[in-house]
Amino acid sequence: MKVLVIGGGGREHALAWKLSQSPKVQAVYVAPGNGGTARDKDLQNIAITDVIALREWAQAERIGLTVVGPEAPLAAGVVDEFRAHGLRIFGPTRAAAQLESSKAFSKAFMKRHGIPTAAYETFSDPQAAHDYVRAQGAPIVVKADGLAAGKGVVVAMTEDEAHEAIDFMLLDNKLGVTHNEGGARVVIEEFLQGEEASFIVVCDGLQAIPLATSQDHKRLSDGDQGPNTGGMGAYSPAPVVTPQIHARAMREIVLPTLQGMAKDGIPYTGFLYAGLMIDAHGQPKTLEFNCRMGDPETQPILMRLKSDLLDVLWAATEGDGQLEQFEMAWDRRAALGVVMAAAGYPLQPRKGDEITGLPADRADAMVFHAGTQVQEGRVLTSGGRVLCVTALGDSVRAAQNLAYETLRTIRFEGMQYRHDIGFRAVKP
Ligand code: AMP
Ligand code: GLY
Repeated sequence: MKVLVIGGGGREHALAWKLSQSPKVQAVYVAPGNGGTARDKDLQNIAITDVIALREWAQAERIGLTVVGPEAPLAAGVVDEFRAHGLRIFGPTRAAAQLESSKAFSKAFMKRHGIPTAAYETFSDPQAAHDYVRAQGAPIVVKADGLAAGKGVVVAMTEDEAHEAIDFMLLDNKLGVTHNEGGARVVIEEFLQGEEASFIVVCDGLQAIPLATSQDHKRLSDGDQGPNTGGMGAYSPAPVVTPQIHARAMREIVLPTLQGMAKDGIPYTGFLYAGLMIDAHGQPKTLEFNCRMGDPETQPILMRLKSDLLDVLWAATEGDGQLEQFEMAWDRRAALGVVMAAAGYPLQPRKGDEITGLPADRADAMVFHAGTQVQEGRVLTSGGRVLCVTALGDSVRAAQNLAYETLRTIRFEGMQYRHDIGFRAVKP
């Protein structure tokens, strides 16, 4: 079978790498891919990003299964377009992807179906938003309604920061948010305390099977300092998700979400990522939904997956309930990935720096590419997050050691990476 992966980040490199290991897969195409997928002899890049052009290409090439990595093509309706032409594709429809593409939609959905999340209000009028902040006080969280590549959330420790964020989001759109219908809106919500985890499941419309748990590091700098980013590193499993919390997340968050979506007439298929905040009493609350796998969480998660990913996604796109019986097998080892980002990331990443010293891939240490491209045999940076160096080990500490040892030889001008990925899971 020929398989297509849509996207060009580290997540898509990992998805394509894993799918290419399936004995049933004859070719894996990545659209548009990156320098890493270009260099991998088992993968082929396709320079198409337009949804209709992709669908036409998939029909002509007789692609048996398409897997969508990022949120943008989902929000643009790629799943609707493929399905309307009888093509098998794994991902949510445009309507279902609103769980991520509109914070106002997902918060109202959670409230309606009793899914635990922070208390909130939605605003389009800046004056009303400012009044609300004055009434509630800080800390408080301001979120842009539309897609913002992980940069649309401001956790304001002071009222001033919250007021500034409201103006940013409602007046100037300095963050480059893609507005939904009706223009700029913000969700202002209660500040939650606890530890975060990424809880990602595979859904077929009604059933869900969980992937291994993970945790990412959203802040740019060591010790969780600096601005929020798309994610500077991740590891799996996340020890904070105990068996009890796992059961609660499935029972109180994932299953009611799938049932609620089905009841509302927009059944959810695809990966569903619940960003959880787990409080001191072990109560998980939903910080956000993403309608896709996490990046960089995918890289460590897929290094631990022993099952054939094609089989999982095939079962999930059959639509006959067989997904429920599926048992995924996981490597008992931990995996940890360290993101290497470009100079200037997250605000103004510089492009075109040459990357040298890339080590050869190994079964227990992989360099997944994200913002890279190959030009005349040289690998150059081409985006904010450049590489994710991911390793397996008998403990999070061992995986951490191997990941940092693997990246030692890699160099590019202005590279930034954190030195403490996994610190919460590493016993002192
Ligand atoms: P989100 O994109 O909604 O997951 O927000 C990005 C990050 O902001 C999360 O991973 C949290 O670290 C933080 N965050 C979001 N919402 C809240 C909240 N209600 N309370 C505390 N921190 C939050
Ligand atoms: N790493 C967080 C995300 O993919 O949204």
